[in-house]
Amino acid sequence: MMNEVRVSAPAKVNLILRVLDRRSDGYHNLWSLMHTVGVEDDLQIRLRPDSAGIRLHCDDPVLPTDGRNLVVRAAGVMLERAGLSVGLDMRLVKRIPVSAGLGGGSSDAAATMFGLNKLLALGWSPVRLGEIGQVLGSDIPFFFFAPSAQVAGRGEQVTRLQVKGERWVVLVNPGFPIETRWAYDRLASARHLVPGLSPAIADLMHTTQTSWEDILPAMENDFEAALAPSHPILDVMKQALLAEGAERALLSGSGATVFGIFRDEIGAVRARDVLKRAHGWWTAAGQAGASPLACHEAFAFHAGRNESSTAAAPRIG
Ligand code: C5P
Repeated sequence: MMNEVRVSAPAKVNLILRVLDRRSDGYHNLWSLMHTVGVEDDLQIRLRPDSAGIRLHCDDPVLPTDGRNLVVRAAGVMLERAGLSVGLDMRLVKRIPVSAGLGGGSSDAAATMFGLNKLLALGWSPVRLGEIGQVLGSDIPFFFFAPSAQVAGRGEQVTRLQVKGERWVVLVNPGFPIETRWAYDRLASARHLVPGLSPAIADLMHTTQTSWEDILPAMENDFEAALAPSHPILDVMKQALLAEGAERALLSGSGATVFGIFRDEIGAVRARDVLKRAHGWWTAAGQAGASPLACHEAFAFHAGRNESSTAAAPRIG
């Protein structure tokens, strides 16, 4: 019996990111329109039913592979909630830059939970996975509702929002990380009042379907103004994307990745190559929303949910 699954973990961009009031728990309420991009990490999960312990191998030597890694923590929480004690071998291939505003670590954690949900035949809903995931990181719940959703609260209130039409996204990263917590502190200390939500956002809140034509003029990110004084390169990258034909360009999350929206693959690939060659920036191009978490091979660990003997996995307690 096969006991392995492969899950792709897409990057996200924030087409809209409004940071609202600071809460008593130190987090900020936000309103965001998030969208996956077809630039993916790859995660492979293999069960070792006869042993215990979670092992992670990652091709990026910068990332820790112990309990500090969100993948290891997500796997631990899933096994604990399921009451299971099995060993796991996991391999992670990184393509999404780290601490880049692209949700890479959150997507990896969501992919872990998504993969284990299939592999262990748990049958947990996206809502349940999101509830568990939010404890590990504010961006994680979104990925269970990908490819596009509006996100509110701390990040845990996720509502699917279908975006009609096709677009390509070019990602540009200057090669340094920005720590999310630092960016939020910077933003909070740089402003005295929180501007209200735009009429376009108010419209989006009450719909389940929208189009790129409606989104493009509504794109904004509160971190742009907050980070402009300390990171002038972000605007240089934005202008470079626009000069290469992007319909709109914007900072993603708390940076430092800036993304451009393109009508088609040819324009996106050309801009990706030109910007990399001219500036030496890390660049990537992917289709908007092309890849929600996808399980490539799901061989259930249990013999089958309908069979009477499903107790193949040892249970704790
Ligand atoms: O949830 P996550 O670990 O990704 O958040 C990292 C940091 O970003 C938090 O410690 C907090 O400082 C800030 N944050 C925030 N409001 C949010 C999400 C994150 O202030 N909604």
